Amino acid sequence: MNKLYSEILARVEVEIKGIELPKTPTNLYDPIRYIMGLGGKRVRPVLTLLGNQLYKGNYEDAIHHAMAVEMFHNFTLVHDDVMDSADVRRGLPTVHKKWSSNIALLSGDGMLVAAYSLLQKTSPETFSRTARIFSDTALEVCEGQQLDMDFSELDSISMEDYLGMIRQKTAVLLSGSLKIGAVVGGADDQDLPNLEAFAESLGLAFQVKDDYLDAFGSSEFGKVLGGDIMEGKRTWLTVKSLELLGGKGSQRLHEAYAIKDFDDRVKEVLMIYRELNIDKLAQQQVQEYSDIAQKSLAKMRGDKDAIETLSWLVDQLIGRTI
Ligand code: IPE
Ligand code: IPE
Ligand code: MG
Ligand code: MG
Ligand code: MG
Repeated sequence: MNKLYSEILARVEVEIKGIELPKTPTNLYDPIRYIMGLGGKRVRPVLTLLGNQLYKGNYEDAIHHAMAVEMFHNFTLVHDDVMDSADVRRGLPTVHKKWSSNIALLSGDGMLVAAYSLLQKTSPETFSRTARIFSDTALEVCEGQQLDMDFSELDSISMEDYLGMIRQKTAVLLSGSLKIGAVVGGADDQDLPNLEAFAESLGLAFQVKDDYLDAFGSSEFGKVLGGDIMEGKRTWLTVKSLELLGGKGSQRLHEAYAIKDFDDRVKEVLMIYRELNIDKLAQQQVQEYSDIAQKSLAKMRGDKDAIETLSWLVDQLIGRTI
C-alpha cells in the first residue's frame, strides 16, 4: 500500500462520514446518506487531493473540493442506475430499487446542488476557477451519458465514437477532479493540459476495464454480472466484436443480443466474446491507455511523492477486480 494514498484515502473517508445533512424529509436525505456511505473506491476525491498535493504539498485545503467531486460522482451513479435499470451497486440495492425512481431523481438532484455548495466553501476567486472546471466537466458527463443511451439504439458504432463517448461520460470527471485540486493548490492554466492528458488516458483505461469487468468480473465487482449485456449496452467489448466480425458476421452478435432470456443472452454473447478473444484484447487496450497515462505522468512537474502516488494509483486501477 502506498503511504500517501492510504493517508489521503483515510482523510477522505473521515470527511465523508462527517458530511452533515438535514434529517428530514427522510426520503430526500436518507438515499444520499445511503449511497455516500456504501463505499466505493473514492478515486475522484483522492485525485483532487493528489492534484492539490502536486502543487502545494498540503492537500487539506482541497478537502471540500474532494467532497464536491465525490458527491457529484455519486449523483451520476444514482441517475445512471435508473437509466441502466441496474439493481445492484457496490454490492447492495440501488437507490431506485430500495426506494423508487422518483426518489432517485430528486435525491440525485439534491446531490448535484450539494456538490456546488461544497465547492463554494472557499474564496470567491478560487470558486470562480473551480466552478468553471466543474460546470464544464458536469455538462460533458451529461453529453457522454446521453450518447451512451443513444448508442444502445444503434446497430453499429465506430470505435472512435465509442471512445469519444467514454471520454465524456467517465474520463473528464477524473480529469476535472484532478484539475480542481491542482487549481486550489495554485496550478496555472498552462499546467492543466498535461494533467488532463494524464487523467483522460487513465479514465479511458478505467472505463474499458469497467466494461470488461461487467462481463468478465466476479461477484465482488458489486454490480450484476452481465448487466451491460442484459441492458443491451454498447461497450468496448461489443464495439470491438462488431469491428472484428464485420458487416455480415455481426448479425450473429445482433441475434445473440436479441435473445429474450437474460441468462441465455449473457451466455451466448460471452461465448462470442471468448471466440474473438475480446477479453484479452480489452485487457490490452486497458494496458495501452495506462501506458499513455504513465508517459504523461513522467512529464509532470510538481511534488515527487504525489507523482509517484499517481503512478501507483494507475497500476492499482488497471489491475482492479472491483
Ligand atoms: C463507476 O465508477 C462508474 C464508472 C465511471 C465506471 P467507480 O468504479 O469509480 O465507482 P465507485 O465509486 O468505486 O463505486
Ligand atoms: C458510467 O458508466 C458513467 C457514469 C456513471 C456517468 P456505466 O453505466 O458503465 O457505470 P456503471 O458500470 O453502472 O458503474
Ligand atoms: Mg451507464
Ligand atoms: Mg451503469
Ligand atoms: Mg459499467
